[in-house]
Amino acid sequence: MNAAAEIGVIGGSGLYALLEDAEEFELSTPYGPPSDPITVAEVGGRRVAFLPRHGRDHRYPPHRIPYRANLWALRSLGVRQVLAPCAVGGLRPELGPGTFVVPDQLIDRTSGRVQTFYDEGAVHVSFADPYCPNGRAALLEAGRDVDPVDGGTMVVVEGPRFSTRAESKWFTSIGGTVVNMTGHPEAVLARELALCYTTIALVTDLDAGVEGDHGVTQEEVFRVFGENTARLRGVLLEAVTKLPAVRDCPCATALEGIKLPFDLP
Ligand code: ADE
Repeated sequence: MNAAAEIGVIGGSGLYALLEDAEEFELSTPYGPPSDPITVAEVGGRRVAFLPRHGRDHRYPPHRIPYRANLWALRSLGVRQVLAPCAVGGLRPELGPGTFVVPDQLIDRTSGRVQTFYDEGAVHVSFADPYCPNGRAALLEAGRDVDPVDGGTMVVVEGPRFSTRAESKWFTSIGGTVVNMTGHPEAVLARELALCYTTIALVTDLDAGVEGDHGVTQEEVFRVFGENTARLRGVLLEAVTKLPAVRDCPCATALEGIKLPFDLP
């Protein structure tokens, strides 16, 4: 049994398994168990850990996902680079279902979620650029066949309901490109552990303020995600092989010079 991994993939709605010939590990953390046992396997010479964000039976809704336990558990295996696919709604008419986006910015509209590991001490991480530049480059290159949009702002809402038309129009007007329910606090918790973190967003629907008349439904989100899972899986497995072996990005040094109240795993 070898649980060591350097790269983590956190699968979103509809992506509940990724790796072949994987070993499975049940982990515990100071924040409770992660969403599911973590599977680990080798992909193109890299050790990869996979964790389905909602659990393999989708038992955790977005606002109840154990985000801290998930990131902590991955780091405790040795993971330092995380790829985090997710389903999103498009906030612009040209971003229809099936479009892939590799965002470069995030707007947090969640409320009531624990979004830090540091309830004591003075730990204020930089979050101006929430996504790893090397992870973004790897996903854009690996995704060339699905022609991903390079950049954009992901608005993260509390959920579990979808947005009203007025909210959705407002998200577009403040610069939002896509909207989802799980991109935060995952991104900042990764930064607080000095992990590289990058998302690739699959548009499953046009959000309520963009499309004509029917409003977003859960059925649509799951159906479109299911139709694109194979493409997404291919992009992720190739992106893993394109991540740099040595980290030279700001994520790696995010905690430099900061006195932490406890040791990281
Ligand atoms: N996930 C997928 N589509 C979404 C939408 N329109 N709003 C929020 N989260 C989503």
